[in-house]
Amino acid sequence: MENIMLPAPHKILKIIQETNAEYTFRVECNTETKHGQFFQLSIPKVGEAPISVSGKGNRWVEFTIRKIGKLTQGIFGLKQDDTLFMRGPFGNSYPMEKLKDKDLVVIAGGTGVAAVRSLLNHFYYYPEEISSVNLIIGFKDGNCILFEDDLRKFKQEFNTVCTLDNGKEEGFEIGMVTAHISKIPFKTFKDYNVVIVGPPIMMNFAAKECIANGVEESKIWLSFERKMSCAVGKCGHCKINETYVCLEGPIFNYIRAKDMLD
Ligand SMILES: Cc1cc2nc3c(=O)[nH]c(=O)nc-3n(C[C@H](O)[C@H](O)[C@H](O)COP(=O)(O)OP(=O)(O)OC[C@H]3O[C@@H](n4cnc5c(N)ncnc54)[C@H](O)[C@@H]3O)c2cc1C
Ligand code: FES
Repeated sequence: MENIMLPAPHKILKIIQETNAEYTFRVECNTETKHGQFFQLSIPKVGEAPISVSGKGNRWVEFTIRKIGKLTQGIFGLKQDDTLFMRGPFGNSYPMEKLKDKDLVVIAGGTGVAAVRSLLNHFYYYPEEISSVNLIIGFKDGNCILFEDDLRKFKQEFNTVCTLDNGKEEGFEIGMVTAHISKIPFKTFKDYNVVIVGPPIMMNFAAKECIANGVEESKIWLSFERKMSCAVGKCGHCKINETYVCLEGPIFNYIRAKDMLD
């Protein structure tokens, strides 16, 4: 039987530089993954960390990684054809059955966009599965913009607002994602869901702004980036109150998640 604690070697097929601090790594992988899941990525004797699947295709998955500490610095030192160790996939996924045939609002910020990119690409390629996609994506400034090719695609198919907290770039509004939530025509939607992904403070304010605009709590879904260790419910590292984020998350309905936000 496969040991889920044992990382397995996987070949890096391609590395895409998104920004100075964020790279996308395409890695050989035959395991089926769902939108919203994550893997535990590692380098022996360096460390291990959970990273969301930002893209998937035939025999590969992609991870978009922000260089922040020991492990991610180590991964940034790897090259195409080098080996990355990983175990997974772990966690639940976006509630595809609940999203189907309804309007979808996605509010995403910073590296958090990585955790929702594969879901957005799914609806880009299968538009018949969704009524509409309404997207608000925010980055700190022009140097932090991720997935420029995807954003161009999404702008063509989805009702998209891209925004920067600071600075000016063509095609980007200025200000926080929360400033654009009142423009979403929630009242015209028959039924809808809202997915919010980003730093805890952003998810907190964005969810409250949605509720102030009449959105029911049960329609909001958040994805949590909690520090983890085992990823299989044994060590307790990821626990918020009584909830194991690695097992029950990382995606939670707001009714459950509102008490878990920092
Ligand atoms: C389900 C899940 C999905 C994730 N997906 C991604 C992803 O797609 N891309 C990505 O770049 N990262 C993602 N992360 C975050 C990533 O796992 C952490 O940044 C990880 O700690 C990096 O490891 P490191 O050894 O390089 O840095 P560490 O040495 O662990 O950390 C360096 C510094 O960053 C701080 N830090 C670490 N993690 C966090 C955090 N979550 N929030 C705030 N501060 C933190 C630490 O306290 C420390 O000061 C995800 C986390 C979870 C739980
Ligand atoms: S990471 Fe060990 S219990 Fe969740």
